[in-house]
Amino acid sequence: MDQDKFIGGTDTTSTLLEWAMSELMKHPRVMKKLQEEVRREVVGEGVIIFEANLHNLEYLKLVIKETIRLHPPVPLLPPRQLMQDATIMGYDVSAGTMILTNAWGIGRDPSDWGESPDEFQSERFLQTKMDFRGQDFQLIPFGAGRRCCPGISLGLAVVEVALANLVREFDWKLPGGMRGEDFDMSECVGLTARRDLPLLAIPTIVSARRPT
Ligand code: HEM
Repeated sequence: MDQDKFIGGTDTTSTLLEWAMSELMKHPRVMKKLQEEVRREVVGEGVIIFEANLHNLEYLKLVIKETIRLHPPVPLLPPRQLMQDATIMGYDVSAGTMILTNAWGIGRDPSDWGESPDEFQSERFLQTKMDFRGQDFQLIPFGAGRRCCPGISLGLAVVEVALANLVREFDWKLPGGMRGEDFDMSECVGLTARRDLPLLAIPTIVSARRPT
């Protein structure tokens, strides 16, 4: 079980953090808005954002939700085997068939996510109560039902605290004056869907960490 927690909790959280930073680099408006929120929350040098601050950071939660919709770290959920014959969306499927659920495709389905499902729009979650804890089948980056990920709360807290502090402490630029819209967002193939090219970003420490 300790090994399960290690395997299930490391690559997933680092992948999500890397994609969240990537989306912020690609969308400077979102980065600025998030920086304003976290710099308002904790003011001064030598202090950091802790877990206790997270419940005040609403925009941070929207950013994480939109990131995990577009980049579920585990794009194909672990396989399931049907124990009895079933009809799924009009198809007869026999007992013993292995089912692979494409969480990546579900999160980008235009019938659930509107005309621009591939666009990063964190504000889209202001209009919906849809959540990723396994009750809304349009958004299942942690799986659903009884075998849903048991590490959701820990994983999210780790990513949220890390991201909040990264953007609070530093301003970030892409190398070589690259513009956000030119930033490559290709994914590689694997059990976890990481960036194909490593994320290179240049930090500048913000000396007077006051609200922007
Ligand atoms: C962003 C972070 C994470 C993501 C996206 C994620 C995603 C998932 C997914 C998709 C599954 C499979 C669910 C299914 O079978 O349908 C899973 C299972 C699991 N996760 Fe996570 N996970 C994350 C963080 C963590 C953390 C932090 C831990 C533990 C410290 C953890 C421990 C586990 C374990 C033990 C299972 C297997 C549960 C079982 O046996 O059914 N996960 N996770």
